[in-house]
Amino acid sequence: MIKKIGVVGAGTMGHGIAEVAAIAGFKVSIVDISWDFLNRAKERITDSLKKFYEKGSLSEKPETVLSRIEFSTSYDIMRDADFVIEAVPELIELKKNVFKTLDEITPRYAILASNTSSIPISVIAESTKRPEKVIGMHFFNPPPIMKLVEIIPSKYTSEEVVNITIDLAKKMGKVPVRLKVEVPGFVSNRIFLRLMQEACREVEDGEATIEEVDSTARNKLKLPMGIFELSDYVGLDVAVDLWKVIVSSGTAEDVKCSLFQKKVDAKELGVKSGKGFYIYPAAGKYKKVELQASSKVDPARLISLAVNESAWLIQNKIVNAKEIDTVMIYGFNFPKGLLEMADELGLDIIYNHLKDIYSKGYKAYRPNDLLEEMIKEGKIGKKCGKGFYDYKS
Ligand code: 3HC
Repeated sequence: MIKKIGVVGAGTMGHGIAEVAAIAGFKVSIVDISWDFLNRAKERITDSLKKFYEKGSLSEKPETVLSRIEFSTSYDIMRDADFVIEAVPELIELKKNVFKTLDEITPRYAILASNTSSIPISVIAESTKRPEKVIGMHFFNPPPIMKLVEIIPSKYTSEEVVNITIDLAKKMGKVPVRLKVEVPGFVSNRIFLRLMQEACREVEDGEATIEEVDSTARNKLKLPMGIFELSDYVGLDVAVDLWKVIVSSGTAEDVKCSLFQKKVDAKELGVKSGKGFYIYPAAGKYKKVELQASSKVDPARLISLAVNESAWLIQNKIVNAKEIDTVMIYGFNFPKGLLEMADELGLDIIYNHLKDIYSKGYKAYRPNDLLEEMIKEGKIGKKCGKGFYDYKS
């Protein structure tokens, strides 16, 4: 039975994961390399717990929840951890070292999970002597608010470990989605990447401005944030990183577009540095971006590449349509699933956008075989009663 959860890394994700685990009643040990990071994490957890308490969504007092979390710069506090979640920066050597250390320090039975958003779990698992107990557990920012946890077994992970992790995610109040096969960027970030790429392409090709793209995302698709705004929120360095990892894996054709890289080169990393595509009140302080209501950007065009990616994920049996929609609703707070939106907008319209952009020389937009087949069979969405979903009662 899991009683104590270890968290490695007290940054944006780590402190949030520790908070979620403590709210769920677990004892938590959080380790980082400096007391500066740990003290900042403690402050952020306290602020967040206070918000929940004041709103009535936390029944215990913030200090009671906080008393279940111990902070340290030494891995010694992991000696009796039953389950550890690693959330250190996305550097492969760093992650491997962390897992090697955890393998030496934690009890033999402990499960070691990584919150990586892009590094293959199998590679991380190979740095331990217990690869069958290593798994991906991918949370979303901000972890106390976002309900989704992607569960990613590697080729080594045992079924028992998968089930324990799914169960733990549920106990933490989360909605788990299990990938059947490990794939670079998982489901969430592959779709997020495709949204960023199309947003980027539209701006670089002069079809729209950054604000127009985001206005369509927020006002027509009703997403909580625009695509550029969300990228700023996630961190443009993180965004560029996952872009590179997915593309270099050879599993996704690239879309040549330099807007994001230019921002990173200029050290404008988004919310964390106070400036990215937009300007924020201070470094680390997010404020909703103000956007004009009207925009000429077609919502079907904006999601076209993400829908094509979804078709690829379904075709390769990584997840089904419903699971993709669960990822987008609970991981990105979409008001409805991406594929539900696609069915409503019309798959024929989305298909035509893909063909149009493909004809401009962007290979990534070649309509996926599954989508091609659906169009041929007349499954063009809600208007005909069949698309990714069946609408006939
Ligand atoms: N703790 C407690 N409460 C928090 C909080 C936190 N850490 N962060 C926000 N809140 C609360 C606020 O207090 C506020 O409460 P209220 O409605 O009662 O006043 C509520 O959440 C909404 O926050 P804000 O008013 O500050 O701002 P918004 O209304 O714009 O909502 C948001 C912020 C919830 C972040 C919303 O914009 C959203 O859902 N955005 C999408 C986020 C997203 O897609 N995340 C996934 C990123 S991808 C990822 O993480 C994967 C990685 O691998 C890249």
